[in-house]
Amino acid sequence: MNLSASIWYLYKSSPIEALSLEPDSEQIHRGKTIYEKNCSTCHGAQGEGQNPNSPKGGINANGTYIAPSLNGAGHAWHHSNEVLFKTVKEGSIASDSPMRGFGDRLSDEKIVTVIQYFKSLWPEKIRTHHAMLIQ
Ligand code: HEC
Repeated sequence: MNLSASIWYLYKSSPIEALSLEPDSEQIHRGKTIYEKNCSTCHGAQGEGQNPNSPKGGINANGTYIAPSLNGAGHAWHHSNEVLFKTVKEGSIASDSPMRGFGDRLSDEKIVTVIQYFKSLWPEKIRTHHAMLIQ
């Protein structure tokens, strides 16, 4: 068993607790692959979002949603680990949003791993702030 798998084993009863751990490079690497397969079409190759001029997302003139950036430029980091996990697993609370839940396609462990990946894109200052204040 490699290190991140054993850390996951310890915390598998709580994905939220797993999200409060520092990811290792292997977990980040695996998360990047999950991200590229499932998320990058909307959230951008580097997590820059669908429209870098609108990193917090929003609504286009024709009423469609803009996928927000996940790289620290948007406001994903204002959400607790619990809300981030729930959003990826269950989807947006807006029923007409293209952000549908991945619970039927990704295991909890994969959801944790992909969140750890996009958190690794955040500037260090934001990561520290999130870890200390936004549990
Ligand atoms: C079909 C396009 C699409 C795909 C694919 C997609 N998303 Fe989203 N995502 C969105 C949109 C649009 C929003 C904004 C939703 C809203 O406001 O209702 C969003 C919102 C989010 C948020 C909340 C961000 C914030 O700033 O509040 C997170 C976190 C997120 N997505 C993560 C992911 C992850 C991780 C994946 C891949 C596993 C993924 N998304 C795949 C379109 C997508």
